[in-house]
Amino acid sequence: MPEFGRALRQRFRLEPGVDFLNHGSFGAAPLEVLDAAERWRRRMEANPDDFYRDVLPGELRRSASRLAPFVGARAQDLVFVENATAGMNAVLRSLSFQPADEILLTSLSYGAVRKLAHYVCDRSGARCVEPRIPIPVHDNDELLQSLTRAFSARTRLLIVDHIASPTGLIWPLTELVALARSHGVPVLVDGAHAPGQIELDIPSLGADWYTGNCHKWLFAARGCGFLWTRPERNAAIHPIAISHGYGGGLTAEFDWTGTRDFSAWLAIEAALEFVEAIGAERVRSYCHDLVTSASAEIARLWREPLAGPPTMHGSMMAIRLPNAWQRVLPATREAAAKLQSTFMREHRIAVAINVIDDTLWARISAQIYNAPEDYERLGQIGPRGPG
Ligand SMILES: Cc1ncc(COP(=O)(O)O)c(C=O)c1O
Repeated sequence: MPEFGRALRQRFRLEPGVDFLNHGSFGAAPLEVLDAAERWRRRMEANPDDFYRDVLPGELRRSASRLAPFVGARAQDLVFVENATAGMNAVLRSLSFQPADEILLTSLSYGAVRKLAHYVCDRSGARCVEPRIPIPVHDNDELLQSLTRAFSARTRLLIVDHIASPTGLIWPLTELVALARSHGVPVLVDGAHAPGQIELDIPSLGADWYTGNCHKWLFAARGCGFLWTRPERNAAIHPIAISHGYGGGLTAEFDWTGTRDFSAWLAIEAALEFVEAIGAERVRSYCHDLVTSASAEIARLWREPLAGPPTMHGSMMAIRLPNAWQRVLPATREAAAKLQSTFMREHRIAVAINVIDDTLWARISAQIYNAPEDYERLGQIGPRGPG
């Protein structure tokens, strides 16, 4: 296996000349995984009848059996979904809520998941409770405290990220699930960023449902996510698209939701082989060390704080943007999106810009194809501001 950084970057199709510091948003798959997905597509096209009727069902379950141990799960409790959005939708739209019920999220919850929760509330008369999480955070207790006060007798569900999107903060899930349990509240975990970025043993977290992406940090081809449910919850959860499998149990319902391209799911084995060849722990520690040192240096150059200490992060960290930007730009989603495009177009830097608490923050990621020099230009451009 080549060295981390420049040499490994050759294994990805990433455009030359761009500093890719935003693996977190969409991931990137190495050539061998893309090739494996292409081989599955060729097999499907060569004989669709044979493929869909006789090859696919067994191969899908085989792929689930390959992925399951990587996340500590049993294959019969784990199904593929297109992405974390689909997994979150499947769970939330399978549950029933009554008027005045409360769904508990946080101010750090992913925007699309917040919209989904609002949609479910609009249809049922339930309401979303979204306590503010002050950033920067200094320790796990702060995160737990900010949620403790938000439970009520009407709380019917806690939705929590395993790794929060705008900050990269890792939530103390075991403690949080115990807190929810003490209130009799079930827990849905949005693990969009977790598989591959941190070690996972999903059942031991004690949550009721867990959805994750493999196309972000597990090197899978895009469109590969999964949903896990506690065994006793399996029968109550249905995919967004109901199809032939309805009533047949979790795997029957999710394994067929209509004709689609299954290649990203079937190529999960190639993704796991890729990460296992390097060593999952080596990947995690390289990325964590790199993002920790890069963000510390950027924070020093910008004279701005990090969203949290390195111990609360995996491979993503956020730094508040310098005053030179905050002074001239409104802290809105539109301004953040525009600024992110400016970084790409004018500087060829892929970096995520988010609004947290009326302030603009930059989130950087580290992946095996990154090297320390990738972060230097961002560090230097920051204090200059837009103009
Ligand atoms: C916390 C969180 N949840 C859900 C998603 C949605 O992921 P996807 O677009 O793959 O469904 C993201 C994407 O970045 C995320 O950060």
